[in-house]
Amino acid sequence: MKIDVLTTFPEVFGPVLGASIVGRAREAGIVTIEVHDLRKWTGDRHRTTDDSPFGGGPGMVMKPEPFFEAVESLRCAAEAGCREEVVLLCPQGERFEQGTARGLAQKDHLILLCGHYEGVDERVREHLATRAISVGDYVLTGGEIPAMVVIDAVVRLLPGALGAEEGAEADSFAEGLLEHPQHTRPAEFRGWKVPEVLLSGNHEQIRRWRRKESLRRTKTVRPDLFEKAELTEEDRELLEEIEEEQRGSGSEAA
Ligand SMILES: C[S@@+](CC[C@H](N)C(=O)[O-])C[C@H]1O[C@@H](n2cnc3c(N)ncnc32)[C@H](O)[C@@H]1O
Repeated sequence: MKIDVLTTFPEVFGPVLGASIVGRAREAGIVTIEVHDLRKWTGDRHRTTDDSPFGGGPGMVMKPEPFFEAVESLRCAAEAGCREEVVLLCPQGERFEQGTARGLAQKDHLILLCGHYEGVDERVREHLATRAISVGDYVLTGGEIPAMVVIDAVVRLLPGALGAEEGAEADSFAEGLLEHPQHTRPAEFRGWKVPEVLLSGNHEQIRRWRRKESLRRTKTVRPDLFEKAELTEEDRELLEEIEEEQRGSGSEAA
C-alpha cells in the first residue's frame, strides 16, 4: 500500500510514523508513506495555501488549487486496477470506525488531505475527495492528528504488519465486541490478584472466561455495540451466568 499525506505541517508526522508497528511496516516494505508539504503545489512567492472566507467571518480557509494540483500529480487511479481513495479529514465527515479502517486497508493507494484554520474550500470535498472522514465528534486544530489516527489503524491491519504474537483478530471491535481484560506478571500486585483461571493453563476455560468478560464489558460500557453484536448459543449461556452472578451479588448486598 502507498499512502500520501498532504499537509502544511509535515514536521509533526516524523516520530509517530517512524515508531512501533507503523515504523516496522514501513521498514519491511508493507507500506510506503510520504508526507508532502502542500506548499510545494503553490504558485506564488509567498507559497500561499489559505485565504479569507468569501462572505466574511473570522479565520482563514484553505485554498482549493494546491490540493487539486497535488492530488492530480499523485493519484494512481489512471493505472489499471489501482484502488484509490482520496480522504479529506473533516469533522463533518462520516465517523471513522474499525470497519472504515478495514475498508481502507483493502486499497492500494490512500491520499489523505489535512485541513487547518476554518477548514478547506468546499470544492475539495465536492469534486476532489472521494470520502470525508471524521475521527470523532470534536474539533481539532488540524487534520494531521486525524490522518495519523487513520494511518495507524489501517497499517496495523495490513498483512504482515503485526507479528504472529500480536494478532488483531481478538482486538476490540474486530468482532463487534470490546476485547477481554488483559493481565501480566506479577500474579499478585498490591493485594490485587489476577483471575485464577488465567494461571490454570486450561486453554478451553481461559477462552470461555475471555469471551464472557468480553460480553460483560461490552454490555456494561458500550450497550450500543452490544445491541448490534451477533451472539452465539454459548454467548447466551455466558450472559445467563453473568446475570446469575449479578443476582447473587445483589442478594449478598441486601
Ligand atoms: C479547526 S478544524 C475546522 C473546523 C470547521 N470550522 C468546522 O466547524 O467543521 C480544521 C481542520 O482540522 C481537521 N479536523 C478537526 N477536527 C477533526 C475531526 N474530528 N476529524 C477529522 N478532521 C478534523 C480538518 O482537517 C479541518 O479542516
